[in-house]
Amino acid sequence: MALLELKNLYVTLDSEKGKIDVLKDITMTLEKKKIYVMTGPNGSGKTSIAKAIMGIYPIARGQILLVGEDITRKGIAERAQLGIGYAFQQPPRFKGLKVRDMLTLAAGRDDPSRYCDLLYDVGLCAQDYMDREMNASLSGGEMKRIEIASLLARNLKIALFDEPEAGIDLWSFQRLTETFETIHEKLDTAVIIISHQERILRLADQVIMVKEGRISEITTREKILGDIQRLDMECQFSESGARGGKKDAGCNR
Ligand SMILES: Nc1ncnc2c1ncn2[C@@H]1O[C@H](COP(=O)(O)OP(=O)(O)O)[C@@H](O)[C@H]1O
Ligand SMILES: [Mg+2]
Repeated sequence: MALLELKNLYVTLDSEKGKIDVLKDITMTLEKKKIYVMTGPNGSGKTSIAKAIMGIYPIARGQILLVGEDITRKGIAERAQLGIGYAFQQPPRFKGLKVRDMLTLAAGRDDPSRYCDLLYDVGLCAQDYMDREMNASLSGGEMKRIEIASLLARNLKIALFDEPEAGIDLWSFQRLTETFETIHEKLDTAVIIISHQERILRLADQVIMVKEGRISEITTREKILGDIQRLDMECQFSESGARGGKKDAGCNR
């Protein structure tokens, strides 16, 4: 049985301009232990899909099934309890909260021996980090990885990461991708990563393309990476003037 199924999902929200259909006819199936990378232009609806799965946005039409159980009308807390977790684009910082407290909150119990493994899995040395405060002394990349560790502490069925690359340097980004690889190897969790990064696309078992509130394509990483390569070649040509100086928007990646 599929882990998560979205069936002909519609999300309609109130805005200043009246009601807008943010998501239209979204259908997809997720299996455990797979990495799904969701990509597409800004404003296409990627975060909204994540919020619909989390129960933050109400479903106007359609159905969400988690291991066959209809969760369409369940609230945020209930879905979280059933094993769906979400990492925000900017993890919050808490003065006075230590890394070990953050992991205890996530796990729902104090389990220090396990935290060592979790911190190790995200590429951080447990002894160095356990008693650090979740404040400005941690870099953006360290925060991201501790946040991932806290999602891992919850034994999730589904973990959603919304543009995890945002606001971190290249070196931290490299470590982050290694962390996703470790999760992939070790856990049954299905991971959905919203990202534009080629390094992240390389991790995908499946790539979900979102456009104007719809899924425009569900495809393989080979196809997407091929497209990116082709686009790069075309850009090189057009930049050197070999194609009559044609500039398309895709060249500004
Ligand atoms: N709470 C909301 N109220 C009104 N419009 C929204 C809301 N959330 C998202 N939208 C609109 O839905 C579209 C998709 O947004 P979003 O899912 O954030 O896109 P993405 O994550 O792909 O950049 C955008 O046009 C956005 O303005
Ligand atoms: Mg977004």
